[in-house]
Amino acid sequence: MDTNYDVVVLGGGVGGYTAAIQAAKHHLKVALIEAQLLGGVCLNQGCIPTKTYLKSAEVLRTVQKSADFGIHNEQASFQFDEIHQRKEKVVTQLRQGVTYLMQKNKITVISGFGKLQDGRTIQVTTEKTTQTLHFKNLILATGAQPKTLPGIEIDGHKIVTSKELLEQTDLPKSMVIIGAGAIGLEWASLLNDLGVDVNVLEYADHILPTETVAAGRALLPILKRHGLKITTTAKVQSAKIVAEQVVVGYEDAQGKAQELTADQVLVAVGRQAQTEGMGLAEAGVQLTAKGTVQVDNHYQTSLPHIFAIGDCIDTLQLAHVAMAEGIHAIDFISGQSVEPIDYDQVPRCIYTYPELAVVGPTMIAQQKQDQVKTGTFPLQANGKALIEGEAEGQVQVTVDTTTDDLLQLMIIGPHATDMVMEGGLGLYLNASATEIGAAIHPHPTLSEAVRQATLMTKDLATDI
Ligand code: NAI
Repeated sequence: MDTNYDVVVLGGGVGGYTAAIQAAKHHLKVALIEAQLLGGVCLNQGCIPTKTYLKSAEVLRTVQKSADFGIHNEQASFQFDEIHQRKEKVVTQLRQGVTYLMQKNKITVISGFGKLQDGRTIQVTTEKTTQTLHFKNLILATGAQPKTLPGIEIDGHKIVTSKELLEQTDLPKSMVIIGAGAIGLEWASLLNDLGVDVNVLEYADHILPTETVAAGRALLPILKRHGLKITTTAKVQSAKIVAEQVVVGYEDAQGKAQELTADQVLVAVGRQAQTEGMGLAEAGVQLTAKGTVQVDNHYQTSLPHIFAIGDCIDTLQLAHVAMAEGIHAIDFISGQSVEPIDYDQVPRCIYTYPELAVVGPTMIAQQKQDQVKTGTFPLQANGKALIEGEAEGQVQVTVDTTTDDLLQLMIIGPHATDMVMEGGLGLYLNASATEIGAAIHPHPTLSEAVRQATLMTKDLATDI
């Protein structure tokens, strides 16, 4: 077998396999190396399985409140092992889809762990075999793994990360979640809906500290109304297993030592790049102090024919970002002229109940502050939200009053993660607030709330 490739992709997650397909589309000879399962974290241990669970929780909620719609079926109950089985089915089907795409695009998929031998050669090993590949270009798409805190050991049973939690076929009665980021809050919302007594502890003084402050502030009271217990300015220091339970020690806002006890603890304090044991530094690929792979804005590492994309570099750790970076790197390798990605145009979606989605910079520059106007439209005033029985939340649009540019769109409510793309497209096409307000939106739809919030920035909203 010829082992020389135009492109070798190390890592078969969503960033890696998308890059491999893009390379094949450019008629490059491509191999993809994956040590575990095709689809990586997003498909097997992240986005897809958790959203499948969240759908079950939504169905349960709908049945539980069916009487509100005049439908009487209050006997709602669930079998978590069946919810787990459905998740496995969805994940397996999607993984088969990825395998099919690899075959269709004639991508050589090699199972095993890849380690650079030098700047042009990679060795792939399994328990039984070793093979060597030679490449003109390499894409590192090795992803990230959950972090833990000093002194907290993940035992995989009582103290878990989202990875182990997704393997469970039963639920604890109570759970402490450390971290109110995307992972912590999505699990908190899901488990709360499924009747688990959930306590979230967050180090920062507000939830979702990497998101806009307004987003966390607007979402928090809704989550609390749904029964979630969330403590901010809670610095978790320990988690110890005591008689089948876990005692979590933290320092509160007053600096006092506090404890919480639960059946299980989920550690959701971020994810760190996977770069170890792959021979990167030895081959001359520079890493940052954080342990991520250092890249420029075309994802070139310190070795210009080696690229890195996705969660192993220091950009937004989001599946759609990894895909876009992979496509960018391959287009660049193919000699196309490509503009650097504008990360302010990337939508950020949190799949809690209700969903939260934001697009636009997390911080509006200080010098722009006095030329910014915000319109906040409550979903209570939107017909479709009332029809759906899901009128908690709001749409907030921020515009630059001098240039009339759309700056930011934040949505809390049903289908926020789908609707946010109106703002995403607006930013991408450099739409003005006047244009968004002038575009005819169908009625009755949730999307009308985006238009109304935009018109509010001009004092022209008609629905409020
Ligand atoms: P994260 O960085 O978003 O949140 C971790 C949280 O843990 C932070 O709020 C941090 O302040 C808190 N924390 C850290 N140390 C603590 C301590 N000692 N005590 C209490 N709290 C502490 O990381 P997360 O949620 O683990 O997610 C990892 C990555 O995956 C993120 O980049 C996230 O955006 C991404 N992701 C995205 C999803 C989505 O787009 N829907 C879903 C899941 C993950």
